[in-house]
Amino acid sequence: MGDRWYSEAVIYCLDVDTFADSDGDGVGDIRGLIGRLDYLARLGVTCLWLHPIHPSPNRDDGYDATDFYNVSPRLGTLGDFAELLHQAANRGIRVIMDLVVNHTSDEHPWFQSARSSPDSPYRDWYVWSETEPPDRYQGMVFPGEQNETWSYDRTAKAWYYHRFYKFQPDLNMANPEVRAEVKKIMSFWLQLGVAGFRMDAVPFIIELTEAGNPSSPKDLDFLTELRQHVQWRRGDAILLAEANVEPDQLPVYFGDSGGSANRLHMLFDFMLNGRLMLALARQDPEPVIEALRDTPALPVGGQWATFLRNHDEIDLSRLTAEQRNQVYEQFGPDQEMRLYDRGIRRRLASMLGNDRRRIELAYALQFSLRGTPVLRYGEEIGMGEDLSLPGRQAIRTPMQWSYQENAGFSTAAPEKLVRPVIDKGEFGYQNVNVTAQRRDPRSLLAWFERMIRTLREAPEIGSGSTTHIDVPMPPGVLAHRADGPTGTMVFLHNLGTEDAEVDLSLLQPEADQPIDVLSDRGYGDVGKLERLQLGAYGYRWIRLCRGRVR
Ligand code: GLC
Repeated sequence: MGDRWYSEAVIYCLDVDTFADSDGDGVGDIRGLIGRLDYLARLGVTCLWLHPIHPSPNRDDGYDATDFYNVSPRLGTLGDFAELLHQAANRGIRVIMDLVVNHTSDEHPWFQSARSSPDSPYRDWYVWSETEPPDRYQGMVFPGEQNETWSYDRTAKAWYYHRFYKFQPDLNMANPEVRAEVKKIMSFWLQLGVAGFRMDAVPFIIELTEAGNPSSPKDLDFLTELRQHVQWRRGDAILLAEANVEPDQLPVYFGDSGGSANRLHMLFDFMLNGRLMLALARQDPEPVIEALRDTPALPVGGQWATFLRNHDEIDLSRLTAEQRNQVYEQFGPDQEMRLYDRGIRRRLASMLGNDRRRIELAYALQFSLRGTPVLRYGEEIGMGEDLSLPGRQAIRTPMQWSYQENAGFSTAAPEKLVRPVIDKGEFGYQNVNVTAQRRDPRSLLAWFERMIRTLREAPEIGSGSTTHIDVPMPPGVLAHRADGPTGTMVFLHNLGTEDAEVDLSLLQPEADQPIDVLSDRGYGDVGKLERLQLGAYGYRWIRLCRGRVR
């Protein structure tokens, strides 16, 4: 493994409260997660990203904290958390956590104090306006569920700013005390042993909000400050950020000091995510080729985090209306599958019609593209969604462990569960669960284990450079390569339904006993690379040559 562990990581994200319940109260907890670390180690995960674990009224699934220095009693104790870090480390797994400091819950003692009086020491920790700001109805993140970004608070007798829901007042990052507090929060968790943070809502964190100015200035240097702070406290800690901004804005989030990233280490590649969905919907790799071509070059040390599904809706807002409609048509045909006028609230397996070939193809493609793959819990067994639950909860149902009642997630009475398990239809736990798939070498879970093992033997995928192989291809087929000091991998993915034959003989001079290291079926010898067969939705990962370095 190279020095920059995050370039070769496999990140797995989960909500502690829907993963595994150890004490039978219906809510997943940290001890339950500890009990499942062996499962994650076997899967090949090297880093866990935990969604918020702090005390919270849970009106936005924990993205509304009331105490940044603690663990919600629903999930366990700080002691349990320290034990988790230890047990995970024993298995070579790092843990990063969500850092949600753009806002707090309105029940946070800071906000309670701030609203109580203009003289409160916390008044200035939030963003206020004495008069109704003219941009009150602009900039909402949750259209349909949120109708303003400035709300009047009767106790405070003033307007406060909230980029997200009304119960999530924004912290005032222009205030040096708030900045110092954010660093203190980070230090606290680093001191306990986390390997870094998934930073929530970064474009809004750095916004220096001015009432009446819907495009208030952004202070990117705050990110430089945070980076320095974090790196000083723990040299190999990382910042992985959610910043769904225009592509030309992305490089400044990484920062560039003498050619090296000096702000965030990693950004989620939202642009690629939308293009991947479009490519899968059209069965045409062109949008991915465009994404590979158009994404800005990164400074040294900067890295993309790729994903197909996360805990939120699939955000299609960066596609054109026509492109978005193509994706809707294929993957979110019913209105109830869509959310916020921009996305889809479904899991991947169900969007792909539970077609095993397409699920493998999609994940083989994601994991072979540049960047560090992020996998959401349950995707490895092909879980579905529950559209009867409101909003994003549809894709936040409990992990399906076994055939037992409640999918083996909890021993509580079903009505006590944090959220119902999926118990009907083809995605019900009776059909989709870990126990069944663990026993079956042909299961999706077994495939994920194999695919991730292969990935870990090919570090050039994460840490090398990825390029499209621009030679004539049959329709639907993408050819790309990853090059690094460890060698070269070549990938073929057929997004279409026609069998294809691909000629890559131009790569023959570079080849050194090339072989398929992962494929959807046995294709036989790769020969001189001039007649490579590929079935419908087929894929082949070919090791072209090994480098000298390792
Ligand atoms: C981010 C999270 C989302 C949350 C929001 C507010 O977008 O991904 O789940 O609701 O921030 O914190």
